[in-house]
Amino acid sequence: MNPLNATTRRDFIKSAGTLATGVALAGPLGLNAEAQGRADTLKIGLVGCGGRGTGAASQALKADPNVVLTAMADIFPDHLAESLKNLSKMHPDKVKVDKAQQFVGMDAYQKLIESGVDVVLLATPPAFRPAHFEAAVKAGKHIFTEKPMAVDAPGVRRVLAASREAKKKNLAVVSGFCWRYDLPKRALFGKVLAGEIGQVLSIYNTYNTGPAWTKPRQSQWTEAEFQLRNWPHFNWLSGDHLIEQAVHSLDMMAWVMGDKTPLRATGTGGRQVSTGQEFGNCFDHFAIAYEYEGGAKGFHLSRKQQNCSSSYAVEVNGTKGQALVDVWKGSNRMILHDGTTWDYKDKKNDMYQTEHDELFASIRKGQPLNDGEWMCNSTLLAIMGRMVAYTGQTITWDEAVNAKETLVTDNLDLVTALKGNPLAQPGLTKFF
Ligand SMILES: NC(=O)c1ccc[n+]([C@@H]2O[C@H](COP(=O)([O-])OP(=O)(O)OC[C@H]3O[C@@H](n4cnc5c(N)ncnc54)[C@H](O)[C@@H]3O)[C@@H](O)[C@H]2O)c1
Repeated sequence: MNPLNATTRRDFIKSAGTLATGVALAGPLGLNAEAQGRADTLKIGLVGCGGRGTGAASQALKADPNVVLTAMADIFPDHLAESLKNLSKMHPDKVKVDKAQQFVGMDAYQKLIESGVDVVLLATPPAFRPAHFEAAVKAGKHIFTEKPMAVDAPGVRRVLAASREAKKKNLAVVSGFCWRYDLPKRALFGKVLAGEIGQVLSIYNTYNTGPAWTKPRQSQWTEAEFQLRNWPHFNWLSGDHLIEQAVHSLDMMAWVMGDKTPLRATGTGGRQVSTGQEFGNCFDHFAIAYEYEGGAKGFHLSRKQQNCSSSYAVEVNGTKGQALVDVWKGSNRMILHDGTTWDYKDKKNDMYQTEHDELFASIRKGQPLNDGEWMCNSTLLAIMGRMVAYTGQTITWDEAVNAKETLVTDNLDLVTALKGNPLAQPGLTKFF
């Protein structure tokens, strides 16, 4: 193993990228710079050891031959233990998480960041992302961050500022907006962005599914523990399902619009069926219309209701034709008005793996990826949708960007968080 410390290693990996264009210089181990970069072990730490975090850690361990998992953090010890057990089974040689490197509690993320890791994987519920993301950038760590980036506009602004800081520090930021790493979507949306369907007039996108899982209340749990273990249903933790899940469809809409932001949005939403106490304070359906400069419109429908028709799709209508994504069917198609059709038939990939393959390759090359700007805009697009649905008002992008409403604070006062957030009522709930 290379005895260099983390900062020196990173500088070295960075310089390896600069030299990768063919200049072969001998490094400290007698290897040329690029080979030295690969030989250098990258230590990763996982914050949020649930389903997605465990998956992301496994993908990170497969992305590069010389990566080890050395630290894990969670608020619940049972989640950490389960994840560690599964990861150790999958990667017996690459999981090296001593007892002293297993951190539990609300400050576990900070201890992990200080534990000597090079890359941090952030996979908690989104409420905690701004604080965790800022701390990782401050400490000079490369980051994989699950989507969404925050649950409110102040949180998005913090992640955006920290992403810009990461760029200055030459740190990688790769997001879990996974469709951006899917080869079929890259090919299809690349055609749209190249103008093959003409000028985009409208985008209809959906995320209509059943409700997320719930965990039955246990007598020994406090109210806070109940909500934290059922986080998708509490908007101070998840942002509501438009932000936490349907944001994937909105991210595809943002992508085909070239990440141009809308002028304003109007919408509706409510809670008709998923009304039980286990469904917290979230809506079970949303319908949002986004208006773009030049007249293009984006229409979004999402619902979390059982026994209804389901759909996870994007339909882009242009002056010369359509681009159509059906996630359930796995189809990626373009149909032009002149009768030409095109279907993606090339190589398919595991987009979750590609996220990490590209993240680690960019670190090795010293050309770190930075998804910061668009990942924050896509998150805000969803938060703006929630704002218009909760309040019943039309809201501009500028108002959404500068909104003051905070759903969660760093110094978590659980009593306020748990009580101060009633179900929104359009026309009565205020925008601020
Ligand atoms: N890109 C995708 O396709 C995709 C898929 C699933 C989930 N996600 C995202 O990944 C994130 C996690 O989702 P999940 O399905 O893994 O949820 P999960 O409940 O399985 O895991 C979340 C974990 O974070 C832990 N946690 C909660 N608060 C914490 C804190 N303050 N500090 C440390 N740990 C904390 C929980 O105890 C839990 O173990 C969410 O943002 C979700 O939107 C993305």
